[in-house]
Amino acid sequence: MSDWLVRGGAVLRGTVSVQGSKNAALPILAATLLTEEPVTLLNCPRIRDVENMLRILESLGCTVKREGDALTVDSRTASSFVLPTALSGELRSSIFLLGSVLARFGEADAPYPGGCEIGNRPIDLHLAGLRRLNASIEERDGRIRCRGGNLSGAVVDLDYPSVGATENLMLAACRAAGETTIKNAACEPEIVDLEKFLCACGFRVHGAGTPTIVIESVKRGHGATFRIMPDRIVAGTYLLGAAITGGDVTVTGAQPETVDTLLYRLKECGCIVTQRAESLRVQAGGRLKSVGFTATRPYPGFPTDLQPQLFAALSTADGTSVIAENVFENRFRHAQELKKMGAENRIVDRTAIITGVKRLHGAQVVAHDLRGGAALVLAGLKAEGETRILRAERIERGYERMDSVIAQLGGTVTRKE
Ligand code: UD1
Repeated sequence: MSDWLVRGGAVLRGTVSVQGSKNAALPILAATLLTEEPVTLLNCPRIRDVENMLRILESLGCTVKREGDALTVDSRTASSFVLPTALSGELRSSIFLLGSVLARFGEADAPYPGGCEIGNRPIDLHLAGLRRLNASIEERDGRIRCRGGNLSGAVVDLDYPSVGATENLMLAACRAAGETTIKNAACEPEIVDLEKFLCACGFRVHGAGTPTIVIESVKRGHGATFRIMPDRIVAGTYLLGAAITGGDVTVTGAQPETVDTLLYRLKECGCIVTQRAESLRVQAGGRLKSVGFTATRPYPGFPTDLQPQLFAALSTADGTSVIAENVFENRFRHAQELKKMGAENRIVDRTAIITGVKRLHGAQVVAHDLRGGAALVLAGLKAEGETRILRAERIERGYERMDSVIAQLGGTVTRKE
């Protein structure tokens, strides 16, 4: 466990390059099991979730090697289809391994991922989809046992465009006999990145980024070298850092089109946004203006993963803002923490009504989840005095050395182990 101390009164200024995307890296790492040749990934972020995924791959028999920016996963030696309980419990995304382990070994045995900080997060859509591909699944004693020696392509119509279920089914379908069509698929950019990776390895997938994805059967893929896309949520977090502190931050190596909905909000807040092919600059000055209404939705809607950070910024804006959280049922736990810092907000079911205050003050707060923790760092930078964030190791699940990045921008975050 670690506490972070955030010194208030900072104005973030400068340029930072954005890390590789967590949500692209995790399913791509799971996909390395599909090929029986080494795969080299560039720009894979050094974050806790990735490290846990790598440990799980090693426990299945894969060899993992990092050399500078290159991470090589060799799954030729993989021999186990049983996912380790403790490590998988730490990482909800270990569920992606169900599809790829099943495709590789014809069998998979995984612990059931329990509920987590931001909601129940059931996996019914993953399991129903795998059953459509002819897997037989038994849920017993907190574990999921899948058999799928004869996976066969099918049409899977998802009741909801779940990101994880879409990715899991893409992985399971790559080596299944016949063609698979996923309808009502999630359209997130990370799914496009997964498709690019699979195609680089010789699999035949198309349609990612649209609601219909088609996967044709390929018995065996091959090795590849692949660069993981930039993390749009991390980019958005530092841009919101500029907004809340009245600063001027440029994020390089970004894909501006993937954060469109945030850029609209930043402009509405009164920030100047400059967009280039691979960089984004946000200049803020004076007090932010409130934003009437924001609703989180699947892509291309406003991302739920930026909701807490936007919430923090709007907590100091002039006027009242409303945010509806439509994706996860319990993702406002940062609201009560921000109140400890002097923020004013009220939660009614899945809607937050935020009345901006002129000043926040330092306080002792708790990072209940990854993005909620990042939101508290932003609020802490803006506040008067010092903020102590407990359980801040949760932030390390997704942000590579956030303290160093903030230092580069002129802020101070000190980690206390
Ligand atoms: C992924 C992202 C996460 C992001 C989320 C939504 C990764 C590693 N994580 O999570 O950062 O916040 O997308 O953009 O990529 N649901 C079901 N049954 C299922 C699956 C999902 O009811 O079988 C529900 C969930 O409870 C949730 C909603 O669908 O309410 C969205 O979940 P989903 O899109 O699956 O998110 P994740 O893949 O878990």
